[in-house]
Amino acid sequence: MKFPDTFHSHELLIAFSFFLLTLPLFSSSLPEGKGKEVPYYMTSDVKEVAGKSFDYIVVGGGTTGCPLAATLSDNFSVLLVERGGSPFGNPLVTDKRFFGFSLLQTDEYTSVAQSFISTDGIQNHRGRVLGGSSAINGGFYSRAREDFVKKAGWDEELIKKAYEWVESKVVFPPELTPWQSVVEFGLLEAGILPYNGYSLEHIEGTKIGGTAFDQCGKRHTSADLLEAGNPKNLVVLLNATVNNIIFSNNGKANESRAHGIRFIKSDGSSNHMHEAYLNKPGNSSTWGDVILSAGALGSPQLLLLSGIGPHDHLKDLNIPTIVDLQEVGEGMQDNPCIAKLVDTMPQKRLPEPPEVVGIADNFKFIIQAGVLPISFNASRMPIAAKLAFPISRGKLELDSTDPRQNPSIKFNYLAKEKDLDECVKMVQLLNKVTKSQSVSSFLGIKPQEKLMSNSDELRKLCKNNVRTFYHYHGGCIVGSVVDKDYRVYGVKGLRVIDGSTFQESPGTNPMATVMMLGRYQGVKLVEERREICS
Ligand SMILES: Cc1cc2nc3c(=O)[nH]c(=O)nc-3n(C[C@H](O)[C@H](O)[C@H](O)COP(=O)(O)OP(=O)(O)OC[C@H]3O[C@@H](n4cnc5c(N)ncnc54)[C@H](O)[C@@H]3O)c2cc1C
Ligand SMILES: *[C@@H]1O[C@H](CO)[C@@H](O)[C@H](O)[C@H]1NC(C)=O
Ligand SMILES: *[C@@H]1O[C@H](CO)[C@@H](O)[C@H](O)[C@H]1NC(C)=O
Ligand SMILES: *[C@@H]1O[C@H](CO)[C@@H](O)[C@H](O)[C@H]1NC(C)=O
Ligand SMILES: *[C@@H]1O[C@H](CO)[C@@H](O)[C@H](O)[C@H]1NC(C)=O
Ligand SMILES: *[C@@H]1O[C@H](CO)[C@@H](O)[C@H](O)[C@H]1NC(C)=O
Repeated sequence: MKFPDTFHSHELLIAFSFFLLTLPLFSSSLPEGKGKEVPYYMTSDVKEVAGKSFDYIVVGGGTTGCPLAATLSDNFSVLLVERGGSPFGNPLVTDKRFFGFSLLQTDEYTSVAQSFISTDGIQNHRGRVLGGSSAINGGFYSRAREDFVKKAGWDEELIKKAYEWVESKVVFPPELTPWQSVVEFGLLEAGILPYNGYSLEHIEGTKIGGTAFDQCGKRHTSADLLEAGNPKNLVVLLNATVNNIIFSNNGKANESRAHGIRFIKSDGSSNHMHEAYLNKPGNSSTWGDVILSAGALGSPQLLLLSGIGPHDHLKDLNIPTIVDLQEVGEGMQDNPCIAKLVDTMPQKRLPEPPEVVGIADNFKFIIQAGVLPISFNASRMPIAAKLAFPISRGKLELDSTDPRQNPSIKFNYLAKEKDLDECVKMVQLLNKVTKSQSVSSFLGIKPQEKLMSNSDELRKLCKNNVRTFYHYHGGCIVGSVVDKDYRVYGVKGLRVIDGSTFQESPGTNPMATVMMLGRYQGVKLVEERREICS
């Protein structure tokens, strides 16, 4: 019996291990960044911030942190702290021709993408630059489904406005490349219907989505949203890593309140700790918050480092417990992905982010394609499928008290039988796309006859080839770690607002909703304070 039809399982592995091996080759081939000036409200001089106070402190200048800080800065003084540097003028971030290259060029403390390997053994990446993962991702933009918004209990009118606010600044309709058009036909041939044309909505069928790459091939990240803020009220501290939150309790043991943050320089040139604080005007009902927007790895990590988490785990690391909150780091999930390389060998095609998507089987399966670099002069063409609603979940814990180190994460991909069953169905659908007439004739290969797809073989294939679609989330889930207003249970003056609060991945791809959430919650916080103060 022949193992999985034309899945080149060995090639899959090679493609992704290439990511790790080909780093130095390419650095010499990059053009020098023009280095657009870093706006005056950005600094990496820790001394400019140390000892100062602000109405709000946002930790993590990522996909959510930037729109949130920009919105708050209209009415309040805001400090935004980001462990990475500036994306402006860095071709690895902004130039579409280098899409995917940042994932090839990683190092321990400074690269814009930080790699990590979950304890499941699967290679993954996270952003480490102003703009966060929106500076290294595929830029595909698609809103969450109406159901998702209803379930979250969000204000639908305000949500719509917040999506539109984001879209007016950083989202563009793509001009489909020949390969994207071919994939679009392949999705339709596979029966992923109806055809919905260009749409930002999460609707079943095949559609063209928005993209963060403009017509000139320039990427817009969430860092661009900072321009919508009030620069006079905003300080963005770059290259500084937050170590922990500082609490005060006014002598009442059970009344911990976030009072500020402690941070270090990211480059490790000094382990000197600096502090910044929250302003405390009037009485406590008008005080602002420390808000964690450090992402699905960073936010649970920071809560643990600050003494909020399972007491036994904190004790093992000698971290004094502020709140014994068992659910911190629980519910980590990364949507299982099966990717199939459709080209027979590496080629010299320019990298291409995804522009079309197939949404099938009651929103359960999402299929997209791109061209991904595997070294500085070679790329591959995967068509990838995402399982949208897996039930398997994992956990995040600390291995170290150094905030610059990745925490330890286990996602438990396909651990539950139900997820494996769904994966089998997903691969059968993926096969229809990869073997479609459109894809085959574009690649100049004969479409293959019907292939046996024994479900035991496909289960094995799923187990052996599962990888990431990069939509990991969880760790600070609403209802477990934060309330519906994103306040951390058991303390005052502390919120978490980012992808770590999601129980499930929104829409085809989460970026739209994560950006929107920053804007939406910023607007809500401003309104909340107006009510208190009027
Ligand atoms: C390779 C890749 C491709 C993807 N493709 C797409 C796509 O095409 N479309 C889509 O919709 N989604 C895509 N995604 C997913 C999407 O980008 C993420 O879900 C989203 O960006 C997460 O946003 P966030 O705000 O939760 O976290 P992030 O954007 O990761 O922000 C967290 C920020 O906090 C900073 N930080 C962390 N810890 C600290 C600390 N201790 N001190 C200071 N700063 C800290 C980080 O440096 C980072 O900037 C992709 C993701 C990746 C990685
Ligand atoms: C916030 O600032 C905007 C713009 O400066 C202003 O129009 C609005 O009234 C302010 N809101 C509050 C609550 O102060
Ligand atoms: C931040 O650190 C990076 C990497 O070490 C460096 O290249 C960059 O110049 C620094 N940025 C600023 C604004 O100092
Ligand atoms: C304060 O904390 C202690 C120990 O955690 C607990 O027993 C007590 O009930 C708490 N008191 C209040 C008022 O919450
Ligand atoms: C705090 O200020 C608010 C608004 O000014 C007021 O309504 C409230 O009574 C004050 N609370 C205390 C404890 O003084
Ligand atoms: C890329 O460059 C290497 C070394 O210069 C060469 O061996 C290889 O054939 C090139 N690959 C492609 C696809 O051109």
